[in-house]
Amino acid sequence: MKTIEFKPDGKSTIITPDLSSQDKAVRNEVLLEVLPLIFHKLKNKLTPILGYTQILMARGSDDFARERLTRIERNTAELTDALNVLKDYPQPAAARRRPTALDRLLEAMAPDWQEVAGAARARVILELAPGMPELTLDAAQMRVLLLNLADNAMHALQAKAADDREIRIATGMSGNALELRVRDNGRGMGEDEQDSIWSPFYSNFPGRAGLGLVICERIIANHGAACVVTSQAGEFSCFDIRLPLPGSEDITPAYGKKINDRTLS
Ligand SMILES: Nc1ncnc2c1ncn2[C@@H]1O[C@H](COP(=O)(O)OP(=O)(O)O)[C@@H](O)[C@H]1O
Ligand SMILES: [Mg+2]
Repeated sequence: MKTIEFKPDGKSTIITPDLSSQDKAVRNEVLLEVLPLIFHKLKNKLTPILGYTQILMARGSDDFARERLTRIERNTAELTDALNVLKDYPQPAAARRRPTALDRLLEAMAPDWQEVAGAARARVILELAPGMPELTLDAAQMRVLLLNLADNAMHALQAKAADDREIRIATGMSGNALELRVRDNGRGMGEDEQDSIWSPFYSNFPGRAGLGLVICERIIANHGAACVVTSQAGEFSCFDIRLPLPGSEDITPAYGKKINDRTLS
């Protein structure tokens, strides 16, 4: 086991992409094709709003106006951030899967983990099991997946004291799958929340768009993988991505039917 730590200066639910639901696949397909265009247009409109607000603030208006302008500025900036969420969305047409060593990919992301550790003021620990086989992966998509999960972990950790924040990213084997696990000891999720997290626009994080896991779901499905979510409110959340080994079937449909009666909705 190789462990790398980046320092800063319950109940199990099993959720798998429900490939049998044609409607849902089509709906998310449309959503993810069309939204980037809409978001781009909206962002273009926000830029002058933010700019003019800042010009007015610099003019030194009275307290009443300044306080309102500050709110406009903050809301506009939050909205701009929220609209950025799809900018790295990997189009399926561009998916390039090739043999990839997940542990090397995780190690190569060291600058990202260092940034996460600093921004979240959390320990980020990589636990890389030895002898993991290479998998046929789209490395760019895997990075988007990992960064989305880490971003959620960062938000969830805000509820914790700074010296007790931890994100663990681990690899390991489980039957015919390689497991990639992202666990945080943040605020966790209740059961209702766990049921809703894969729905577009569902978000409990302030100023967020609620699209991160929709993108993750697509990436998981693109790789024929499944995701097991385990969480306890107030304690922890764990996202366990199970990637099928070469030669084994995609685990999604069988896996989903056998041990999960919940489906993404
Ligand atoms: N690690 C986590 N800990 C607690 N809640 C989480 C975690 N990951 C996701 N969630 C919940 O799932 C919701 C949806 O996540 P996501 O799709 O990434 O959207 P966003 O990050 O924009 O809120 C979050 O708003 C939060 O309620
Ligand atoms: Mg997110």
